[in-house]
Amino acid sequence: SSSKASEEPSPSASNGKLVVGFAQIGQESGWRDAETASVKETFEGDPGFELKFSDAQQKQENQIKAIRTFIAQKVDAIALAPVVESGWETVLKEAKDAGIPVFLLDRGITKGNEDLYVSFIGSDFILEGQNAAKWMIDELGADAQVNIVQLEGTVGASAANDRKKGFEDAIKDHAGYKIVYSQTGDFTRAKGKEVMEAYLKKDKNIQAVYAHNDDMALGAIQAIEEAGLKPGTDIKIIGVDGIKPAFEAIAAGKMNVTVECNPLLGPQLKQAILDTKAGTKLEKWIKSDEDVYSGQKAIDALPNRKY
Ligand code: AHR
Repeated sequence: SSSKASEEPSPSASNGKLVVGFAQIGQESGWRDAETASVKETFEGDPGFELKFSDAQQKQENQIKAIRTFIAQKVDAIALAPVVESGWETVLKEAKDAGIPVFLLDRGITKGNEDLYVSFIGSDFILEGQNAAKWMIDELGADAQVNIVQLEGTVGASAANDRKKGFEDAIKDHAGYKIVYSQTGDFTRAKGKEVMEAYLKKDKNIQAVYAHNDDMALGAIQAIEEAGLKPGTDIKIIGVDGIKPAFEAIAAGKMNVTVECNPLLGPQLKQAILDTKAGTKLEKWIKSDEDVYSGQKAIDALPNRKY
């Protein structure tokens, strides 16, 4: 493996290909599956690359093992989607000492460790949380009384921490906006449903659900319907990701808004690896460009959604 800078990226693996190891989190959501597919399509469709893919089944220890295997295999680059923010220093230092560039894909790690990776490629989760709150305040009114259930993502994940922070900061000056319950649903549909079901047994006086991803929002929709209430009407449903089933739920009137988060990061990752191999200095944060979809705008966009 070589990291020398030159005009042309120089494939360094023995078979002439650039070998990329991707330590993926798991398969918890439609979004995650779309990201995996994007990375696989990008690298498996390019004869200049070889992809080594690892699914950690939501466990940090499995991701750490995968990274150590990639280091032992002397891959040319490592992509990591960190399941949680903390606890990466040791293994990323090992990759650095081995001269292997690391790219963080979609989720971040604890601040202060910027020297352990080349670039973070992904979304501004704080902004997504703010946008979710902004939609609510614009739609329901700045002075409305709104009891909110927040379905949080995986405990310790940057996507959960920052979506919570952005949202809570944005509603804090509106006294009527109260988070009456906040609980992790682990970014899955099943857990989103379970948490919502349990809460509705105790209290039905809620006006909005803010879910850190669409899968949990879709699970909550099911629970609300089973409790005899109308999601989208009686209880407003706000999700994040922009997966197709969320657009369909909006078209069906059962969901109100989805804050887009782009999972199609394969092409940007590939470009970042090529640039690094060519000696080009990259931005520390390669940010995704994203939108917010509700109502007719969502219905119009549905046929062209890619994930
Ligand atoms: O890191 C991005 C988040 O992870 C997505 O919002 C969620 O669906 C996924 O599991």
